Formats: sequence, C-alpha cells, structure tokens
Amino acid sequence: MAAADLYKKAFYFLIVAGSVLLALFILSLLEDAGRNYLVSDFGFDFDSRGRLAPRAGPDAPNMMTVTGISLIENVIRIFKVILWMVFVVSLIRLLTNILFETVLRSAAQTEIATLLRTVLSIVIYIVAFFIIFQSQYPQIELAPLFTGSAILGIVVGLALQDTLGNLFAGLALQVDHPFEVGDVIVMANRGQGVVESVSWRGVRIRTFQNKLLVISNAALGKETIEVAPQYNLNARLVMFNTTYSASPAKTAQVVREAIRQVDNVSTKMRPVIRIRDFGESSLDWEIKYWPENYAKFNDTDAMIRQRIWYAFQREGISFAFPTRTHYTAAGPETPSIEEQVSTTAEYLERVPIFAPLSDEETAQLARSSIRRVYAPGELIVRKGQEGTSMFVIIRGSVKVQLPDAAGPRTINQLGPNDFFGEMSLLTGEPRSANVVAEEETDVMQIRKAAVKPIFEANPELLETISAMIEERRKLLTQEQFEQTMRPTRPESGMMSAIRKFFGIGEY
Ligand code: CMP
Repeated sequence: MAAADLYKKAFYFLIVAGSVLLALFILSLLEDAGRNYLVSDFGFDFDSRGRLAPRAGPDAPNMMTVTGISLIENVIRIFKVILWMVFVVSLIRLLTNILFETVLRSAAQTEIATLLRTVLSIVIYIVAFFIIFQSQYPQIELAPLFTGSAILGIVVGLALQDTLGNLFAGLALQVDHPFEVGDVIVMANRGQGVVESVSWRGVRIRTFQNKLLVISNAALGKETIEVAPQYNLNARLVMFNTTYSASPAKTAQVVREAIRQVDNVSTKMRPVIRIRDFGESSLDWEIKYWPENYAKFNDTDAMIRQRIWYAFQREGISFAFPTRTHYTAAGPETPSIEEQVSTTAEYLERVPIFAPLSDEETAQLARSSIRRVYAPGELIVRKGQEGTSMFVIIRGSVKVQLPDAAGPRTINQLGPNDFFGEMSLLTGEPRSANVVAEEETDVMQIRKAAVKPIFEANPELLETISAMIEERRKLLTQEQFEQTMRPTRPESGMMSAIRKFFGIGEY
C-alpha cells in the first residue's frame, strides 16, 4: 500500500476518533449535569455505588419520572457503547491496515494477510464489545450468558456451522498453502482453472471457458487437487500416433522440428518425444513438453498438433487409422527376389572396394546379403566380440568408437558406401572397435561364407582391402589404449594372415 494511502487512512481515523471522544466527553458532561439536576430538583439521590436512586420520603419522584429517567439512562449507555465501538473499530482497522498491508503483505501471501486480518479483527471486536458493555452494565454478567447457555451455543453453532467450517478449512488451507493466486488447479470432479482469489469463505477459480467457479473452503478441503504452480515448469503430455511403417527415428526428428517454433513451449527444457505403446494398429507416441505459461496449455497443445499434421504431410508420415477400422487393401508390393538382388547389387556396385567385381560376382554377393536398419545410437558392432560379417552402409552414418574410462571416444565416422566390420571378418580377430549408428542407418550385412569365394577369385580385392585395414589399424594404434590392446601386425603379414584365416592358397 502506498504511504499516501496510509496517511489518508490515519487522517480519517484521527477525525473519527476525535469526534467520538469529543462526543463522549460532551455526553459525560451532560450526564453529570443532568444527574446533579435530578438530585437537587427531582427527588433523586446517589446510592452507595454512585448510581441514581429515587429518594424515599415525601419528595420522592413518582413512578412515571423514575421509568422515564431510567429509559434516558439506558439510551445514554447504549449510545456510549456505540460510540466506543466506533472508536475501537476505526482504531483496529487502522492498526491492521498498517500491520498487515505493510509488514505481513511483503513477508507472507496476500491471502493469508487478508484472512488473518479478518479473523483477528472479529476476535478483537468481540472482546472489545464485552469490555465496553460490561463497563456500562456492570450488573449484567455476559460471560455466563455465553458460556452457560447450552441453547445459545447450539443455536450459534448451527447458524455458523458452514461459516466456521469454511473459516477453519480456509485457515488449514492457508497454513498448508498448497496453491496461490495465479496457479492452475485441477479438481477431479469439479473442473480446472486459474485461481483468482482465496478468502476465508472459499476459492474463486477462472475456468478455461472464462467462467467463474466458486468453491467453498470446506468443500475444497475434501477434494484431491492437482496444482500446477505458476513459477514452476509444469509438463504437458500430447499424444499422437503413426502407422507402423513410419520410421521412429524420422518421426521423432520431424516432430521435434515441428514443435520447435511453437509459442509457449519452453526452451529451458528439451521436449521429450517417445513411443508410449505399441498400439493395436498404431505406434502410439507422446510428447512431453513444458509450457512457459501453463494456463495457456490448451492453445499450445492445439498448435503442436497442428504443426505435427503439416510436418507429417510434408514428410509422408501417416497417422494410423482408428484401431477398430477394418479395411481391405492390397498389401504393399513386395519386390521379387530378383528385383531385390538387383537393387542390392546396385548398392554394392557403388562401394569402391567392390568395383573390380564382375556383375555375376556382385549379384552373388547381393544374394547372400541382408539389409538391416539401425536406430540412432544403436550399437551395430561391439568391440571384443567375435565377428563373422561385414557391413556396407546404404543410408545414414556410423561412428567408430573406442570405449574409454571417460566414455566412448570417436575415432572415425563412416557414411554411405563405406564399409566396416571387415577386420574381424577377414582376420578372425575380435572386433577392434565399437560401431554405433549416428542416425537411422541402413546397412547391408555380408557374411563370411559369401565373401570367401569372391576373395578367392579376386586377389586384387584382397590387396585393396588389406591396405585399407592397415590404414585403419594405424589410426587405431595412434589411440593410446590400442597399443596394449592389439599390437599391429607388420604390413607384409596382413595378406598372409587373411589368406590363412580364409584358407586361401598363396598366389
Ligand atoms: P572390426 O574390427 O571387425 O569391427 C570394428 C570395425 O570398426 C572394424 O572392423 C573396422 O571396420 C572399423 N574400424 C576400426 N578402426 C577404424 C578406423 N580407424 N577407421 C574406420 N573404421 C575403423
């Protein structure tokens, strides 16, 4: 609260307090004068406790006068009680204003301040009323009236049952402080929205349809509430699905790209895009993202779905049909064996080391090759394992890595038309390194049995490949651990080692 506002309130208080005190002062002057006048002229006397009492004897006042005077006395007392209460109320209002709006408001929550202020003020008013009333009517005992009267207790209890229930539930809510104004809360049976205010009666929630949901504290206390605090990054899940033919790696990449530009998706946390389930007829996915402003998640979810739809259109990824839809369609055309062989052969022809092979030899190699696809990060070849096949990369890329105490160390990268796994295949030694798919990668796996006749017929192929193995070995040996793990063979010995392993005679 602004200081000027506070000064204004203090000024009003001074005026009210001054007027009340002045009124009380004038009232007591008039009262004294009146009492003395009654004693001297109207047959009244002061009793032992200083109260007016009709004098006995011949000049005693008549009944009418006595009743009239006691009525006037009562009116004056009630008037005094009212004036004192006005004074107390304005004083308490000023003090609580100063205390709660300046000190507590900065330290605690606004709602707590308001609630405490109301409760505290009510208690003080009641106590003040007791004291003031007793000072004017000392002969009436109020305490037993309240404590002793069971009927009054029941009446008050019943009348205030809900109010008190709300008050205490509100207090418990404030102590617990599970949410504050601006947070989004979700109540299982009642809906969800942004908390707009918290009072000692209940909580007002602005729903996402811009309606106002008012719920009493007592009712709220019985609810299970999910809170998304406003100064917290709260995650959202958005679901979608694709057909089983859509590549997971590609889908994840396309979706990541699609939602990158969506407003309100926090850049502080990288969205998680993952397969939630293998559905009946779809790959079921979920996106976990963190909205900057959680209260706007409906719009953000919708925009994410829209962007995914467009991205899928461009990339040829299809959403799955509803799970219960039965449709008859010609299955995908599977190419004949010969077509498959010729496609594989085309790939193999592009690989430089297989260039010297005749068409028949390439076709032969193609026939015994198997096409395989690996996910990003998947291990294709593990260091130290036995290896009986080599691989030619058709699409994607791989990293050749040496495991290290500090994590894998990449020593080379290979792309389309490169090959790997030849070292073990040709020498019978354990795999010399890990080979890991860097992205979604298609490879052609060729087994030892398939390459053996090719090498027998093509000594120059053996030479080229030996030279390449030497090159790769050199790089491996440069890496400090390799020295101890696998001593390099002398170059001249490489060819004969391969020949020996394959059981190929000297040429
Ligand atoms: P292999 O030893 O069977 O299994 C690991 C494979 O990693 C290895 O065959 C090679 O094909 C490949 N490799 C090892 N070192 C290198 C390197 N320096 N450059 C490229 N590829 C390599």
